[in-house]
Amino acid sequence: MSDKLKVGILGGTGMVGQRFISLLENHPWFEVTTIAASPRSAGQRYEDAVGGRWKMDTPMPEAVKDIIVKNVNEVEEVAKEVDFVFSAVDMSKDEIKAIEEAYAKTETPVVSNNSAHRWTPDVPMVVPEINPQHMEVIEFQKKRLGTTRGFVAVKPNCSIQSYAPVLTAWKEFEPYEVVVTTYQAISGAGKTFKDWPEMEHNIIPFISGEEEKSEKEPLRIWGEIKDGVIVPADYVKITSQCIRVPVLNGHTAAVFVKFKKQPTKEQLIDAINNFSGVPQELELPSAPKQFIRYMEEDNRPQVALDVDYENGMGINVGRLREDSIYDWKFVGLSHNTVRGAAGGAVLCAELLKAQGYITKK
Ligand SMILES: NC(=O)c1ccc[n+]([C@@H]2O[C@H](COP(=O)([O-])OP(=O)(O)OC[C@H]3O[C@@H](n4cnc5c(N)ncnc54)[C@H](OP(=O)(O)O)[C@@H]3O)[C@@H](O)[C@H]2O)c1
Repeated sequence: MSDKLKVGILGGTGMVGQRFISLLENHPWFEVTTIAASPRSAGQRYEDAVGGRWKMDTPMPEAVKDIIVKNVNEVEEVAKEVDFVFSAVDMSKDEIKAIEEAYAKTETPVVSNNSAHRWTPDVPMVVPEINPQHMEVIEFQKKRLGTTRGFVAVKPNCSIQSYAPVLTAWKEFEPYEVVVTTYQAISGAGKTFKDWPEMEHNIIPFISGEEEKSEKEPLRIWGEIKDGVIVPADYVKITSQCIRVPVLNGHTAAVFVKFKKQPTKEQLIDAINNFSGVPQELELPSAPKQFIRYMEEDNRPQVALDVDYENGMGINVGRLREDSIYDWKFVGLSHNTVRGAAGGAVLCAELLKAQGYITKK
């Protein structure tokens, strides 16, 4: 019998769910044993339920093809088979909140890709290199839920990964005002060009809810636990515009920053290249060796060349230069469905296992 932890994927037939299944193929700690989706897919073999909807570049792993898809809403049925679940279901926010808590209450930890619980005060929202200590709020959440091992943990929105890690690396220079424009890939909406042909040769200057997330979520990640809840930081102001561009994978961010201290270019680049965290120290299986890299070439980072850096788990930065109104400006790039979605959640689960929050049932 395998020593690996048994994992269920809620929403496993969708785009993010497929990414989880691809990333977990041959994972050293976790094994996908259960897949759940809507009642439309329930009862079918996974391969049949997905049909022509497989959106990954790599083939569907053989090990999952014959798994019979379960109904996400049959919580006990799914929960009894697994040690923990990843959540990537697409339902209304209230439904997602309720169903993720229902799984937690069966003593099944939930690591979620969804936004529903990102502002629940005792739910940690974590980028493992930035705020691994926020997992400590789980003890307070468990008291509220009345559980001993069940809880919900989430990862933040995909848009912030292209700049929030960089600003974190520069914390000692005290960034306090940030203007960011994101250029976001269509896979962030769960789409390819095949199912969104209007995006070819096009730009759409609106992504519902994205600007608020881009401005507020970094503050929660930089916050502190006080009285059993996470209190967001208030020392940085971020304003943003989020734009959908004709790119399949990869969110780019163009960023302007004001600092209270006056760093040199060399100091800023050193801080980026030397930034690392708990995942690197613990050598977690999905951790990039170098989390953020600075690229000297004027025409980098480029989506086509750089999005897969560190298997999609690393952040690319370039074009750092002084600005005539702000202090410094730069361009960041990250993989939205790997670091920004399923990969970020897998790294959170690895951190939770290393910290002892996820164990065998
Ligand atoms: N795409 C991204 O990069 C990204 C990034 C961050 C967050 N997200 C969020 O992640 C979630 C999933 O996104 P996605 O792009 O993977 O969506 P998707 O491709 O539409 O997949 C949705 C999944 O949810 C299931 N589902 C839909 N309605 C359901 C219902 N009423 N009851 C139970 N299951 C239901 C679907 O099952 P069936 O196949 O049976 O319909 C499918 O497995 C969304 O909440 C999205 O906002 C996406």
